[in-house]
Amino acid sequence: MTTADALAIAPALVDALAAARKVTVLTGAGISAESGVPTFRDAMTGLWAQFRPEELATPEAFLRNPKLVWNWYAWRRERVARASPNAGHFALVELESRVPEFLLVTQNVDGLHARAGSCRMVELHGNIARTKCFDCERTADEKDLAGDDVPPRCPHCGGMLRPDVVWFGEMLPANALEQAMRAARECEVLLSVGTSTVVEPAASLPFVALQSGAWVVEVNPDPTPLTPRARFALKGTAATMLPALVSALQARVG
Ligand code: OAD
Repeated sequence: MTTADALAIAPALVDALAAARKVTVLTGAGISAESGVPTFRDAMTGLWAQFRPEELATPEAFLRNPKLVWNWYAWRRERVARASPNAGHFALVELESRVPEFLLVTQNVDGLHARAGSCRMVELHGNIARTKCFDCERTADEKDLAGDDVPPRCPHCGGMLRPDVVWFGEMLPANALEQAMRAARECEVLLSVGTSTVVEPAASLPFVALQSGAWVVEVNPDPTPLTPRARFALKGTAATMLPALVSALQARVG
């Protein structure tokens, strides 16, 4: 494993980050891998390697088998609650403090960015710790999850409660997506970290930034459809590469 301080980050990239007023960061499940949270598509450990998304992460799957879907998300919620942010999450908090106009756009529902201290952030796919009613869409309180019903019932309309995450075939929160698209269009540098860059519309964000003339930097140990187009492809893990990037920036600007 290459230690963070031994990594040589291209001086041109450090200069671009130091000069940038607007930086956008897109993250995916890969940034949480080193916190012990499973990704989706990693061959051996990914969630979609064990389960089929159509059976678990769609409204139809929930209506077909609400108990199975509710219990799967309860298992994921419990795993996430046991996890802690890693050096990659904390490096993005440090970067945010150094950039005048910064937006973190995450596809992750694990809440680890917020727990690390990220503030200027949008959650494109919701948050697994939040629960809402499948019918009336009101957000449920923790106390509404008590009781014997699985899934629990909405105290307002009696509908089934569900995790407040975006399922396949569902619309993303409009405001979050609009903020993300604007940040991709307007930034000077976009970092794409730990995402397979396959699920739309998030996967388009780095390409929107490229079309707007931004420098796009990918952080991923494996190749993705973005890799050949990225200005810099940092082949490594988020917990190694992001601290190295921030260390190089600190050395450059103090
Ligand atoms: P994936 O599991 O599709 O991709 C994870 C990416 O992270 C892969 O490209 C890995 O190579 C990379 N990776 C693995 N370990 C890493 C590490 N330590 N550091 C950096 N990168 C690492 O997860 P996402 O791209 O986030 O959506 O998936 C996008 C969406 O598909 C998710 O938000 C979810 C899923 O279905 C919904 O459920 C709507």
